Amino acid sequence: MAPAPIPFVDLAAQRRRLSGRIEAAVQRVIESGAYIMGPQVAELEQRLAAHTGVAQVVSCANGTQAIELILRAWEIGRGDAVFVPAFTFAATAEAPAWHGATPVFCDVEPETFNLDPASLEAAIGHAATLGLKPKAVIPVDLFGVPADYRAIGAIARQHGLRVLQDAAQSYGASRDGRRAGAHADAAATSFYPAKPLGCYGDGGAMLTDDADLAARLRSLRFHGMGGGGQYDNVQLGTTGRLDTIQAAILLEKLAILDQEQAARQRVADRYGAALGNLAITPRTPEGVASAWAQYTLRLPDRDRVKAELAGHGIPTMIYYPKALADQAAFAGSPVSPTGIPVSRQLTAEVLALPIHPYLEPAAQDRVIEALRRALGA
Ligand SMILES: Cc1ncc(COP(=O)(O)O)c(C=O)c1O
Repeated sequence: MAPAPIPFVDLAAQRRRLSGRIEAAVQRVIESGAYIMGPQVAELEQRLAAHTGVAQVVSCANGTQAIELILRAWEIGRGDAVFVPAFTFAATAEAPAWHGATPVFCDVEPETFNLDPASLEAAIGHAATLGLKPKAVIPVDLFGVPADYRAIGAIARQHGLRVLQDAAQSYGASRDGRRAGAHADAAATSFYPAKPLGCYGDGGAMLTDDADLAARLRSLRFHGMGGGGQYDNVQLGTTGRLDTIQAAILLEKLAILDQEQAARQRVADRYGAALGNLAITPRTPEGVASAWAQYTLRLPDRDRVKAELAGHGIPTMIYYPKALADQAAFAGSPVSPTGIPVSRQLTAEVLALPIHPYLEPAAQDRVIEALRRALGA
């Protein structure tokens, strides 16, 4: 009989560890009746601010909306260019396009899979020749590794661009002594269940040291509310609040996040030691502690290996099977003059292995053994 499949992400193990605390927290919200903007929402925002070292945290309905609202607060729209990596999840480019701005796709670095500053620089010049106004760049901390904000920040300052950190996959990571969310003019994160800090539904947050921006974002997430309260609408806004129940769940999970990330690091170290000479394993740049949202190999023979692992009950994922610039939704969007060869090559080679804080060594050894066999080692 084949052994039981290994879960790709094991949220049930996390729930067992929290032994009833989440259920109790949810029950308290249900009994309180404060389903919208209950006290847990403000408490979560304060805890996230303390945890990241960012002055202002504004929670919202999801990570995509977090990017959208920040761009809206910056009044980015038609005629504006927003630079995004070509190798990322749809939301990064969707948000600027939704506002009528033009996403301009840049290539990524082959080792970190993050925005390549040289490709960004070339794209800025190109956007201007297309008659677009370069306004912002959205580096993505892909798979948990914060992008190279020093290099990107220098280019952004030179060209007057705002920097929006897409920290959807990197909550809890750090680079150069700063937590993810603290590297740019503003940051967006996601609490989608499978993210490093996930709730039991959709959720997100916006982080910034800019108090005026934070005030604008608080208003935008609540129908453009002004100083006169809920029925004083001073700007166009939306229903963008985080549910109290999700905030209560996140408070319980945030309390154990640092321990969980140490456990993810141990899993990543074990993979690195066992697989380092068989495949291209993830490289963490100097000064970076990854959130290890994913553990992604590069394998020339990816599809065959994936099929073999599946036969042994080992799930793997392909993030991402297509460069975003090649998706129908973004047909015709400009691409950096460097092209996006690295992004396209990665789509053919990447394979994400199971990684989560509760992956036991015995289960991880099954993944490693199956991979060694598939790779003929
Ligand atoms: C890189 C990236 N950006 C943005 C998002 C959007 O987050 P959400 O799913 O909460 O809208 C995600 C996640 O799904 C993501 O992976």
